[in-house]
Amino acid sequence: MTARIPLSAPDITEAEVAAVTAVLRTPYLSQGSELAAFEAELAAYHDVDHAVAVSSGTAGLHLALLTLGVGEGDEVILPSFTFVAVVNAVLQVRASPVLAEIDPVTLNLDPAAVEHAVSPRTRAILAVHTFGIPAQLDVLKELSRRHQLLLIEDASEAIGARFDGRIAGSFGDLAVLGFYPNKQITTGEGGAVLLRDSAHAARLRRLRNQGRDSSPDASPDASVDWLDHVEPGYNYRLSELACALGRVQLQRIDEILALRRQAAERYDALLADVPGLVRPPLLLPRRELSWFVYVVRLPEGADRERVQAALVRRGIATGRYFAPIHMQPVWRASNMTGVGHFSLTESIARRTLALPFFNRITEGQQREVANALREAISSVA
Ligand SMILES: Cc1ncc(COP(=O)(O)O)c(C=O)c1O
Repeated sequence: MTARIPLSAPDITEAEVAAVTAVLRTPYLSQGSELAAFEAELAAYHDVDHAVAVSSGTAGLHLALLTLGVGEGDEVILPSFTFVAVVNAVLQVRASPVLAEIDPVTLNLDPAAVEHAVSPRTRAILAVHTFGIPAQLDVLKELSRRHQLLLIEDASEAIGARFDGRIAGSFGDLAVLGFYPNKQITTGEGGAVLLRDSAHAARLRRLRNQGRDSSPDASPDASVDWLDHVEPGYNYRLSELACALGRVQLQRIDEILALRRQAAERYDALLADVPGLVRPPLLLPRRELSWFVYVVRLPEGADRERVQAALVRRGIATGRYFAPIHMQPVWRASNMTGVGHFSLTESIARRTLALPFFNRITEGQQREVANALREAISSVA
């Protein structure tokens, strides 16, 4: 059943429709000028030298790990409180995920827990900027330097966020973005890898395109032929239509982030009087947030499923956001390396609830959500 007030909704204007339609009037539906322009614009926005667009955030994580040479025998530290794509990418390169506890305010990796998780096999820290809040990047960067580890940022949920004034995605050896339709900007499906190293950028472009050294469009006279594959690769290309869509969305990013901030501020005011409800922080020291989702913590003891069911009956969609990785059915019974006790992650994850949140959500819709939530909480308490 489609919810009357959905959890998320893409914000597509006539400008996006026109840009995608214009591509359809050309013969270039893949690997053309939209890709090159989108990559250049993403790199400029993030103050890095290269952006390599790929077919999803997960593909970006996979290629980031491959390009940095992370593989069998290596450990990668990541939060358990995150989206499953992060751990899947680590497993895809046959490395071992090592889960670490989070900070209760930012819901990001707790640097002390990361330090504790470092072993002689650790190769990388995968810092996810959860829900658009930048991780503690200064400490994680210093820690990765001291232990000679790679720092990979997963900024899929945090495009435009800043730490100490510097944009998320520009701190690590590599960073990954995701453009699924629930994200701040979308390409339908899609993602990108951000980086400074030119050799790594060339490798990423090769790996996303079946191991081809160059595309015919990029260098028509290249000695390497379209059918010459210099290493095993993948099809992780992003179409011209997706890139055209992404370019317009990126042009609108300031407006989009402002709309989302306003929506978050409205929820903050509307929910302030709900007893026991923990609202997400609107302001955090040293950070500029990029609002991805609006996730509250229900009062202790409130039955989340019953709250969700009560909201669904009124046509309001919600999400659990996230069931910790180590508690996912697929890994609950397994011996995932580093799985210990994550009491904070578990106690927070039990209570989280994502409310409808998108650029064009109206104050009336938000009031309705807040009232329904208040009533649901009091009736199931
Ligand atoms: C933190 C994080 N990493 C990676 C991904 C994967 O992105 P995609 O769905 O584009 O593969 C997502 C989201 O959807 C995400 O939230």
